[in-house]
Amino acid sequence: MEINLYEKKIEQIKADLELVIVHNKNELDLPLSTILDEIEFFRNSFNIYLDYKNNKLYLSINSLKSRELRIGFFKVINFLKNKKFRTLKIDILQKSKELKIKDIVTGFILGSYSFDKYKTSKITLNIEEIKVSISQISKKNEYGNNQLKKEMILNKSVNFTRGLVNNPSFEFFPKTMAEVAMNLRNKNIDCKVYGEEEILAEGMNAMFSVGKASVNESQLIHLTYKPKNPKAKIVLVGKGVTYDTGGLSLKKGDSMVTMKCDKAGACTILGIFEALGKLDIPFEIHGVIGAVENMIGGDAYKPDDILKAKNGKTIEVTNTDAEGRLVLADCLCFAQEKIEKIDYIFDFATLTGASIVAFGGYTTAVMGYSEKLKKQIAKASKKSGELVGFLPFNEFLEKRLKSEVADMINTSPNKNGGAITAALFLSKFIEEKNKKKWLHFDIAGPSYRQEEWGINPYGATGVGVRLMFEFLEKVEKVGK
Ligand code: BES
Ligand code: ZN
Ligand code: ZN
Repeated sequence: MEINLYEKKIEQIKADLELVIVHNKNELDLPLSTILDEIEFFRNSFNIYLDYKNNKLYLSINSLKSRELRIGFFKVINFLKNKKFRTLKIDILQKSKELKIKDIVTGFILGSYSFDKYKTSKITLNIEEIKVSISQISKKNEYGNNQLKKEMILNKSVNFTRGLVNNPSFEFFPKTMAEVAMNLRNKNIDCKVYGEEEILAEGMNAMFSVGKASVNESQLIHLTYKPKNPKAKIVLVGKGVTYDTGGLSLKKGDSMVTMKCDKAGACTILGIFEALGKLDIPFEIHGVIGAVENMIGGDAYKPDDILKAKNGKTIEVTNTDAEGRLVLADCLCFAQEKIEKIDYIFDFATLTGASIVAFGGYTTAVMGYSEKLKKQIAKASKKSGELVGFLPFNEFLEKRLKSEVADMINTSPNKNGGAITAALFLSKFIEEKNKKKWLHFDIAGPSYRQEEWGINPYGATGVGVRLMFEFLEKVEKVGK
C-alpha cells in the first residue's frame, strides 16, 4: 500500500472513497447528520460509517490530537480489509488544521498489517494507494515528500518486526534469525554470526548454557551499520529467545503460551536495521543479538549450576526460567569488549513478568543510572506514542542477588520488584565507564498482547522501533 501527496484540491483527486473526519452533526448536511446522530455516531471516537452511494467513509474523532488520529486511521484501514475499494483520498487540512504526515502514515501503515500466514482464508487489503490532498497547505512538496518517505520506511519496519515476532518457534529458531540478519546486509550494513563453538571460544558460558538443551544451535549475531563520518556510536543488545519453555524450571502450560514472543527484543533490533538500510542516519550503530532456545533435555542446564560469564563473573542458577538475563549478560560483555568508545548502550528484552505486574502490560519498563538519558527517552516516548515508565534502582534490592557460592544468583528469592532485580543483575555486566550510557528496556508487556490495542493488532506490536528513531532524531539535533 502506497501513500502519496497530491497538489490538487480534494474534489479533483480521483479515488474510490473519500475519508471524511467528523466531530459533530453540525458539520454534515441533512439527512445524513440526523441519521448519524440517531445511531450515536458522534458519541465517541472511531465510529465508521460507509456511505456507499456517495463514496464517502465517515470517521468520528473527538479531537485532532495525534493519538486519536493514528488510532482512527488504524481503524479505517482495518475496516477496509476484505472490501473491494482500491483507492482512498483524504484532505490534509481538517477544520483549518493541518494533519501531520507522521500521524497519517503511522495509522495507515501500522493498520495495514495482518498476520494471516496460517489462515486458509486470507485477509486481503485491496487498498493500493492513499491519496493525500496537500493543495491547501503552505509548505508543499519537498518537505512533505521527504517526511513521507522516512515515515513509510520506519512504519514498514515496525510491521517487519511484527512479522518476525509472530512466527512460531517450529519454523523460527536461532538460525532463522541469523539468516534474517544476514539478509539485511548492504553497502552500509555488515553482519557476523557466531555458532556454539565460537560462543564457547568467546567465553560466553552463560549464553551457551541456556541454549545447550535445544536441537537448534544458538547463534550470536553482530550487525554493524556504518555511515561515512559517524557522529556517535550506539549499541543495541537484544534478547532473542526464540522459545522460552522455562527450561527445567518449566513454565506451567498457561504461562508458556505466547513464549514465541521471547525473541521480541532481538526482532526490534532487526527492524531498526531494516530501516537503517534505507535511511541516512549519521551514527554508527551496532546490534548484538543472543539467539537461543530455552528447552528441557538430558543436557539442559540446571538449577544449582554455576556459570562463568564472559567477564569472568560467576552466576549460581536458581531458576532456569530467568534465562534472558544470562543471555544478555554475555551479549553485553561481548559488545563492550568488541566495540570501543560507546556513546549509548541499550538493551531490549522481554525480560520479566514482573514488569507487566508493575505497569499493566502496555508500557515498556525503562531502567538505568542516567537521569538525563531517561528524560531523553521520556521525550521520545511522547513523540512516538509508545508508553514508557521508569523503575528505580536501590542498594537493598541489589543485595538480594547475593550468592553464598558464586558472585551472584540469577533470581532473587523474593519475587517483589522482579523487573528491577533483573535489571540490577544486568548492571553487573556493564563496565563502570558505561554505567551512565546504559539503559535497559523491559518490553515483556507491550511487545506482544493477545488483544488489539491502540495502533497495535493482536499479537506482536514491533514496540521499540519508533521509540528508538525518535530518540535518534533528538540526538542528531542536540548532539550527544
Ligand atoms: N520470558 C520471560 C518473561 C516474560 C513473561 C515475557 C511474560 C513475556 C511475558 C522470562 O524469561 C521469565 O520467564 N522470567 C521470569 C523470571 C523469574 C523466574 C525470576 C518471570 O518473569 O517469571
Ligand atoms: Zn524465562
Ligand atoms: Zn524469557
